[in-house]
Amino acid sequence: MSEAATPPGSVPGTVFPPGFDPTAESVEKTLCFRGFWAWAVLILLIALGISLFMWLLRKCIQGPAYRKANRIDGKVVIVTGCNTGIGKETVLELAKRGARIYMACRDPGRCEAARLDIMDRSRNQQLFNRTLDLGSLQSVRNFVERFKAEESRLDILINNAGIMACPRTLTADGYEQQFGVNHLGHFLLTNLLLDRLKHSSPSRIVVVSSAAHLFGRINREDLMSEKNYGKFFGAYSQSKLANILFTRKLSTILKDTGVTVNCCHPGVVRTELNRHFAGPGWMKSVLQTGSLYFFKTPKAGAQTSLRLALDPKLEHSTGGYYSDCMWWPLVPWARNMQTADWLWRESEKLVGLPPLEPPPPGQNPTQNGNGPQNGAASGNGSGNGNGNANPASREMQSVETVVVNRS
Ligand SMILES: NC(=O)c1ccc[n+]([C@@H]2O[C@H](COP(=O)([O-])OP(=O)(O)OC[C@H]3O[C@@H](n4cnc5c(N)ncnc54)[C@H](OP(=O)(O)O)[C@@H]3O)[C@@H](O)[C@H]2O)c1
Repeated sequence: MSEAATPPGSVPGTVFPPGFDPTAESVEKTLCFRGFWAWAVLILLIALGISLFMWLLRKCIQGPAYRKANRIDGKVVIVTGCNTGIGKETVLELAKRGARIYMACRDPGRCEAARLDIMDRSRNQQLFNRTLDLGSLQSVRNFVERFKAEESRLDILINNAGIMACPRTLTADGYEQQFGVNHLGHFLLTNLLLDRLKHSSPSRIVVVSSAAHLFGRINREDLMSEKNYGKFFGAYSQSKLANILFTRKLSTILKDTGVTVNCCHPGVVRTELNRHFAGPGWMKSVLQTGSLYFFKTPKAGAQTSLRLALDPKLEHSTGGYYSDCMWWPLVPWARNMQTADWLWRESEKLVGLPPLEPPPPGQNPTQNGNGPQNGAASGNGSGNGNGNANPASREMQSVETVVVNRS
């Protein structure tokens, strides 16, 4: 039987198997890879690590999805601005769940293309193409008039349409475009549909706002950004803050009616919203490429709207702000009820609705200082804009019902 080797330098008493040389060089030879294979394995491990990290990060960026499988067969839904982006994905998912959906878009051609595509993919034929330009109060009234002629109920209203950071232009009624489309158009639309929503309760209103509200302030002296126009941090952020204040105020007005209203930030989503981005070409390319990875897909962007529209657990939740399918607390200026009250009264005047509540003492009911700039009458169409303080007149003023053939 051979003796185990005890080489010089090793701890006395340590016994090694025969032929084993524990000197530094020898251990290195035994335990480490060398040359090509060492590098190949190392690079493979690093690549795997990076891929796993990128996959996890991408998952985080996409956020949680609404996974409950509840159906809403036959429920009547309106979604604004749904020929593309988040709105289109929202309609697709609601269509798969059996809803009867009115697609309210400003471009009938693009709306029709989206409608056919969604009908194909969802196998739901109950989709209707309807024209709605939120930049025209008359168009909003026409849309509501036709809708009311066609439907006696409305279960879900999703105020999704929006424009961002466009050059300063005016709506048909002479209001700053972003405030006019993102806030005022939806303000009038929702108010004119409240009777249908109440009649169909429990029903829901979903307002798609944005985290951009964090930069926003309601500029009481210059609501239409006449003196100073900042296209993103000014007008867009103000309009998205207005969406939230509108939600907060409306939730108090609708208390105990069975109609809930919540708002959300969909995330940073790869859509056509940045179509007015005017930076240099190279920056556009960098943004486009980066957005492929760092932005949510429109489908992921639709998940919070979908949860607010669908989740049975939220049937009684109202006045909340959600992002990534979760409730989020609001910053103080987004829950300031004095500003919300002021904005509500101001918006009523601007769209020509009679006030729901009497004006606070000492304030002239017709005075707002933010009137239209192009001479168009405030609240054209059937609005009166005269500050009639009788809430009942709001009902009388809601649009006439006429019989229209559904095409
Ligand atoms: N994408 C984001 O990262 C992001 C982040 C925060 C919040 N949001 C909000 O998410 C909502 C949906 O935006 P998106 O990202 O899906 O953008 P999008 O792809 O540009 O879609 C916007 C939709 O609104 C419609 N629209 C614009 N002006 C309109 C008007 N005057 N009348 C009726 N419809 C009008 C557009 O119609 P046309 O195609 O005819 O123009 C389009 O269908 C917006 O409210 C936006 O503020 C988006």
